[in-house]
Amino acid sequence: MTEKLVYITRRERFNAAHRLFREDFSDEKNLEVFGKCSNPLWHGHNYTLLVTVKGPVDPETGFVMNLKVLSSIIKEHVIDKLDHRNINLEVDFMEGKLASTENLAIQIFEVLNKELSSFNGISVHCIKIQETENNFVEYFG
Ligand code: NI
Repeated sequence: MTEKLVYITRRERFNAAHRLFREDFSDEKNLEVFGKCSNPLWHGHNYTLLVTVKGPVDPETGFVMNLKVLSSIIKEHVIDKLDHRNINLEVDFMEGKLASTENLAIQIFEVLNKELSSFNGISVHCIKIQETENNFVEYFG
């Protein structure tokens, strides 16, 4: 019998500052490549994070996993580290990475997949981040 996988999603929000830039670019070149996000004096975004997790339905509970538990894992390992922080300077899992939403999605995927490895059959399916009203990033691992 094939296992029926179900996908569940939890939404969280955080506000954070960042700057997109390369040290080896001039301010003019950074502005050209990264636009307003290259502002040397930082700026912030109100991010929305959608974490989709997949797994079989536990016959005892009818759940893939308890969403309250998922929410507290996301809060502890991701949101508490990002919310009201500077992504370039303060977030351990973004150290040495360009503070783009793409890199954020990859790192959050890795962090959460590791935290969920102790849950039988559960893994991260997708990390989706909305940075602005019109810009979304998705990472499927
Ligand atoms: Ni920005």
